[in-house]
Amino acid sequence: MTNDLRQLLCENGQDHLVAHLDRLEPSLHDNFCTELESVDWIRATSMHRLAGPQVTPNLPAELGPIPASQLSGPERDRCWDLGIDLLAKGKAAFVLMAGGQGSRLGFDGPKGACPLGLPDDLVLFEILVRRLLRLGELSGTIPPFAVMTGPENDAATREWFQKRQGPAVPPSWPVLFQQSAAPALDQSGKALLTKFGELALVPDGNGGIWERLERSGILLAWKDQGVEWIHVAGVDNLLSLPCDPVFLGFASDSGAPLSCKSVLRTDPSEKVGVYVLDGEGRPRVAEYTELPPKTAAATDVDGLPVFREANIASHLLTLALARQFAGINLPWHLAVKKIPHVDPATGVDLTHQLGCKYERFLFDAFPHASGMSVLRVRREQEFAPVKNALGIDSPQSARTALESLHRSWISRWNLPEHSGWIDPLTSYAGEREAKTASWS
Ligand code: UD1
Repeated sequence: MTNDLRQLLCENGQDHLVAHLDRLEPSLHDNFCTELESVDWIRATSMHRLAGPQVTPNLPAELGPIPASQLSGPERDRCWDLGIDLLAKGKAAFVLMAGGQGSRLGFDGPKGACPLGLPDDLVLFEILVRRLLRLGELSGTIPPFAVMTGPENDAATREWFQKRQGPAVPPSWPVLFQQSAAPALDQSGKALLTKFGELALVPDGNGGIWERLERSGILLAWKDQGVEWIHVAGVDNLLSLPCDPVFLGFASDSGAPLSCKSVLRTDPSEKVGVYVLDGEGRPRVAEYTELPPKTAAATDVDGLPVFREANIASHLLTLALARQFAGINLPWHLAVKKIPHVDPATGVDLTHQLGCKYERFLFDAFPHASGMSVLRVRREQEFAPVKNALGIDSPQSARTALESLHRSWISRWNLPEHSGWIDPLTSYAGEREAKTASWS
């Protein structure tokens, strides 16, 4: 270990790692040194100082509800046509956030590849690919597509896209880029080890997306290609509509550089963030982990929650704004949770002692936008989260939601003999004819 690294670690409260390295058997030494050098220890210290267990999280005191738009049938059709026109001109691209850990799902692989029990064993990645291909058919242009992976699933995600079988996709599509990671720390800020000679490095939230999109050169390349709008969405929604033409039309019409989709939140305990306005009237998301239960449960005169616009992790913004977001230092959020780790001196498993995981959230950039519009969509048409192995928000519940959506299309199309399953290659959102907004 160089003296510089030794000094850096000691100055940042990580002297236990220096001692660990000195005791480590030679075969593990070099790898551990390389790992230690790869971490930004100044950043690690600052995340603990700014958001550690000793800090009270500061959601702005005055939060207000945010207005949301809902589209009538004719408005929807008009937005669809506008959006198809933007897609035809190659002005929209899609970014999939797929970097998180699949731990809540209990699946040992990328969430996007988790078996869902769908016909032909289609998984979330493939459903999204097919919806984008369908947009290519409808508009004449397949949107550019990038996938953000994480340290734990990057290799498996690359392999999935390399080995995927099915309808052909354009070369080098999607582009994959990896999000950042940060060391997991104990309650006093010391880095944890998963075993002798290995740091516990964990994905540090989806907030690094802006910086990584910029640094990877993807935004610049897309700008050169004429892309003006970026749709960012989470991987874990079976009803997700990548580069939704209606959303594109709505966003470009709204005049705001940022638009977000919401669904109506009716259950105060649902694990969703809500769109709100802060005391200065700036839009933001109050995350479910941070919203006090009383605030989350507060109801309005109509009996619905005051904070009712649930974030479904679907955000559309101008490429220029995404580039601006890349320069913003986003705040850290702390999650105290079980993190597999051992005692650095004895190797005894200490996983029962809760550790600190620090994350940044992509939506913390939103208050910096000059304007934001919210489009409320129908839950049964656009939100079927896949978060848990069983029960609520599971593969089973998402599959049921997709089946019932398909059934509603089939009945509208008046096809009583239909098998009940519609390949996304043949209909993106219930439309029947290519190149028109014909819905029945
Ligand atoms: C997220 C939203 C929440 C919203 C809910 C809707 C955030 C921080 N919270 O909650 O407001 O109501 O979805 O389903 O976005 N991801 C990464 N890298 C990471 C962490 C996450 O790429 O380090 C991706 C995940 O793969 C997923 C998305 O970001 O696609 C959301 O992350 P997740 O941690 O699952 O957030 P939720 O708690 O479900």
